Formats: sequence, C-alpha cells, structure tokens
Amino acid sequence: MKPIMRVCPDKAALDRAAARLIVKFLTEAHAARRAPVALALAGGGTPRGVYELLASPEFSALVPWSEVDVYWTDERCVPPEHPDSNYGMAERALLSKVPVSPARVHRIQGELGPEKAALLYDAELRRLGRGCDAAVLGVGADGHTASLFPGDAALEERTAWAAAASSPGGPRVTMTFPYLNLAERVLVLASGAEKAKPVDAATRGAFGAYPVLRLIPKTPALWLVDQEAADLSR
Ligand code: 6PG
Repeated sequence: MKPIMRVCPDKAALDRAAARLIVKFLTEAHAARRAPVALALAGGGTPRGVYELLASPEFSALVPWSEVDVYWTDERCVPPEHPDSNYGMAERALLSKVPVSPARVHRIQGELGPEKAALLYDAELRRLGRGCDAAVLGVGADGHTASLFPGDAALEERTAWAAAASSPGGPRVTMTFPYLNLAERVLVLASGAEKAKPVDAATRGAFGAYPVLRLIPKTPALWLVDQEAADLSR
C-alpha cells in the first residue's frame, strides 16, 4: 500500500499541515466514537514545532483534550526529566499547555529499563485494546521510525504491541509494527535533506526498503515532507 506523499514548501508549512491533520483525525474519531480517542506522539526534533502549534489557541481550542488519551510511539530508556525524554519534549511543547487529563497521559517508563518498561507498556496498550486513532511518526536518515531501527530484533516482533529495542543512542522501548499497523491514521513527518532517501523510497512505494516502509496501516500512511526531504525524488 503506497504511502500518500504531500510536499510542503518549508518546515513551517509542514508543521501547520501536520497540526491541521492531527486536529482533523482526532475530531473525526471523537465524532465517530463518541468516546475518548487515542493519540500516539513521536519523539525526536521534527514534531516539536507541530506540538507547539497544537498547543496554540488557534489549534488547541479545536481538540477535545479531556477525551484524548496520549501515548508515545517510543521512548528512550531515561527518566522523564532527562533532556532526551520523548515524554519530556511533548510535556514541554504541548501537554503542559492543554487541558489533557493526567490520567489519560500514558508515559512509557523507560527509566525502568527496556524489558520491564516494554512489558508495562504492552499491558497499557492492551488496556486500550485497540490501535490509536492517530499515530504521529518521524523517520530517521536510516529509515527507522519510532524505535524500529534497521537490523534490530524489534523489527521482527509479530505479537507484542510494545518491545524493547536497541538504537545507536542506547536502549529504547517502541510500539511494534503489529501495533502501529492497527492505527486508524498514520502521519509520517520528514524534514531536511538527510531524510531524502527514505522519502524517495516512500515516493516510489518501495515497501520494505526501510523500517518505516514496513508499516501497513489500515489506511495509507500520509507523509508530510518539506522541500529538502523531497528533493531526491525530483
Ligand atoms: C525518537 C523518535 C524517532 C524519530 C526519528 C527522527 O525517539 O527519536 O521517535 O523515531 O522520529 O529519529 O528524529 P528527528 O525528528 O529528530 O529527525
């Protein structure tokens, strides 16, 4: 299933488009479910600007935050106050600024170590019992997404919904492909020339060329890429 590619003129436009789509996905799901909806957030640097926009009055007022369950696509095995924490980044950029219910923030407890944190997170996802309504993902220059890195055993996980993973930067916890593929909508954000190769592969529909291209979500993943990340395909 070929991803849907949308090229944005620059990062600011990518951030706005992503914020608009996340609001759309959440509000449509909330209207359809008439119940709380689940959002999975990526870490790294690309989505920070999107989260800051989502926290702005223009976008924040459109989201039923008290009925949004927030998850993470992955986490580093560090405490939440560590500068590398994906939870910490989202907390500073978004969650501290919107009326999300603390009981609906499902942090990955990476500080417990990858194996134990993965078991606890798997149980947390099974308490939700379904895929997220919207999953926001980034992509690395090597084509990893979440913490599903090339060559890592976590790529081959077929049953668990969360797994321990390894990354060049150390141990991680990640949602697995079986779980990510349950998401109703998947948004992949790619900014910068260093992402051009996985973006080009996505444009060509080269399934499996990179970990991110092993996603087979319910509806085609929607990629938002800026000009720099799109150039190889031009
Ligand atoms: C993480 C992310 C990871 C990220 C890519 C891209 O924990 O780092 O979940 O998958 O999306 O590494 O990172 P940048 O957005 O910083 O380029």
